[in-house]
Formats: sequence, C-alpha cells, structure tokens
Amino acid sequence: MNVKYMYSLLAVIALFLIAWIGSAIGLKPLFGIVFPYVAVMVFIAGFAYRVMSWARSAVPFAIPTTCGQQKSLPWIKPNSVDNPTSTGGVVLRMILEVVFLRSLFRNTRMKLKESGNKLAYNLEIFLWVGALAFHWAFFTVLFRHLRLFTNPVPGCVELVEKIDSFFRFEVLYDAVKVALPGVYLSGIILLLAVTYLLLRRLFIPTVKYISQAADYFPLFLIFGIAFTGILMRYFLKVDMTSTKELTMGLVTFHPTIPKGVGSLFFIHLFLVCVLLAYFPFSKLMHLGGVFLSPTRNMRTDTRARRHVNPWNYPVPIHTYEEYEDEFRDKMIEAGLPVEKMPEPQPAEETDKKESHDG
Ligand code: HEM
Repeated sequence: MNVKYMYSLLAVIALFLIAWIGSAIGLKPLFGIVFPYVAVMVFIAGFAYRVMSWARSAVPFAIPTTCGQQKSLPWIKPNSVDNPTSTGGVVLRMILEVVFLRSLFRNTRMKLKESGNKLAYNLEIFLWVGALAFHWAFFTVLFRHLRLFTNPVPGCVELVEKIDSFFRFEVLYDAVKVALPGVYLSGIILLLAVTYLLLRRLFIPTVKYISQAADYFPLFLIFGIAFTGILMRYFLKVDMTSTKELTMGLVTFHPTIPKGVGSLFFIHLFLVCVLLAYFPFSKLMHLGGVFLSPTRNMRTDTRARRHVNPWNYPVPIHTYEEYEDEFRDKMIEAGLPVEKMPEPQPAEETDKKESHDG
C-alpha cells in the first residue's frame, strides 16, 4: 500500500493549523507581511537560479523529440509540427504544447482486449481534459486576483471576471441575490480538477504505485488554497475592503495589517506563500523547464545541417594524413602499410643524384 500521500496530507493540515493558530494569537504581521515578502523573494531567486542553471547546461547533441516524418527527400511528406525543421515550426509546436498540452493529448494506454490476444492503444483523454482544466482554471484564477493588487483595476481583469462569472445559477441567484456573489466558474473548476488529479493518484493502482509524497504535496496544497478561497468568497465572507488595503500595502511596500481581516484569509495567504517558496525546488518547475528542454526547443534538421557542438573549443589535432606524411619513410622501412606511397623520383634525377653522391 502506498501511504506516501499521508505525509503530504498531514503536512498541509499542519500548515493550515499553523496559520490558523498563528493569526489567532496575534502573529498576523508575520503571516500577512513577513512570509509573503520572503516567499516572493525565494520564488524569484529560486526560479532564476533553476532557469539559469538549465540555460548554462551544455547541449552537445541535436536531440529534439520527433513524433512525425522528418523532412528529407522532396517526395516524402514531412510533418512540420511534430517534426519541425524551422524556428517557426518549433515556436508553433511549443505554443501547442504550452497552451493545449498537446503531447498529453497524444498519450495512449496499451490494453489487451477482452479476447486476450488483441493489443489496443486507447487515448488517455480524461487525464488530458483534467490537466487542461486544471492549468487553465489556475491561470484564470491567478489573473483575476490581480484585482487585489491593482488600483484602478485594469479593464482586461474586469473583462475576464465578467466572462468567468457569466454562468449564474439564475433561480438560486434570484432567491438569494443579496447573499450570493457572482459565481466564478474558474474557481470551481480548479477545485474539481485538482480533486480529480488527486483521486487519480490515490485510486488508480498503476499511478498510485509510482506516486511519491512530492507528487501529492502540491495537489493537496493547491486543493487547500482553492478550498479556503471558495470558503472566503461564498461561505465565510471576508471583509474585502480591509483585505484590499492589506494587499495594496504589500505591493506598494507600505505594508499594514488592517482590522477586520479574518484568520481564513491568513490561512489562504500562508498556503500560497508555501506554494511560492516550494515552487522552484519542486516538479512544478516544469513551468520554466518546458521552454528550456532541448527535446522541445530544437529544430529537427539533422538531415539537412550538421549539428556542431557549440561547446567545442579548439584543440590541437594531428590527423592521420599528417602523421603518415611525417613517418611514411620509417613506416615503409618497418614494412607497415601506408595509404599513400611516396612519388617515384624521375630516373634522370636519381642517376644525377647518385653520381653526385658517388
Ligand atoms: C496560487 C495562488 C492562488 C490561488 C490558486 C487562489 C485561489 C483562490 C480561489 C479559487 C478563490 C475563490 C474565488 C475565486 O474563484 O476567485 C480565491 C479567493 C480569494 N483569494 Fe485567492 N488564490 C491565490 C492567491 C491569493 C493571494 C496571493 C491572495 C492575497 C494576498 C488571495 C486572496 C484571496 C481573497 C481575498 C479571496 C476572496 C475573493 C472574493 O471574495 O471575491 N489569493 N482564491
């Protein structure tokens, strides 16, 4: 039985309690000012460090992933997206990967059919849908949070809010109009998608078998963040005026802890701080890594162009031709084979030479 998820779950529960108790016993400045600044600094420094160390790594070979026909002879149709030979093709493939998780879409699972003697490859469509929903919802929620850190709020943030809350539970909404704020779909989808990704790791035996505590931890953490956010918005309402005063204080470097900001907000914020500080040292760094992966960012033009290792430095070399030129006489004398026999000297010159020597 894989119980590694227990460590991660307990860690997130512990973080939740730390922030709750901490903010209740008067440590609000620690949770509302110190931790957010420290977390942002660790995130920026850690992210930059990881990206720079990848950027500095040598890429001596052309190793792009090839998922289609490479360009070769004119009558063979190349696949310019899955096997791009131009920079434009690489950019297009990268966009499709980052925005639509295309390689995950192509993921298949091998299965033996009922009869037992037929092998079939099935599309793993649910993982792709879940992952896509998770990433898009996360991005949208983050983008909407810009409202808390800007004054006036940019039009594009308001537009996204409008689109995101287009779906209103009309009947329900009419009934409790005063109490219920507009429902943001992205927040709900984020919670559902992260729950699906968690359940998958908890209940599908093959996925569970390979899952580590480091796979569960970010999922539980993000679940905690989305859960506390939803609690704050729809159930245990926070005082948005004082919350915005706090967040604006943070971005303008005049931090304050206004009255009326409840513990739930500090729990939400503390979990976000942990996520930020943990990010650069975790698997979540695939956010930066995908752009630096040579398997993704190189052109597949190995049949058209010779890939010369850019890290090659000039070294003194002695070719075989030069070696043979230097030692040919001695090699012939010793009876060793040579590639080039010495030019026979014209007979006249040889005679002259001999009589002169004599
Ligand atoms: C990883 C980053 C974060 C995630 C994933 C996240 C997620 C969420 C979610 C899902 C909600 C529910 C409502 C909605 O869909 O917008 C929410 C609400 C909220 N979050 Fe966050 N959050 C993050 C960062 C932050 C930060 C940095 C702050 C403040 C410093 C913050 C403050 C709030 C507040 C005040 C609400 C209630 C908003 C309202 O009532 O309209 N969140 N968050």
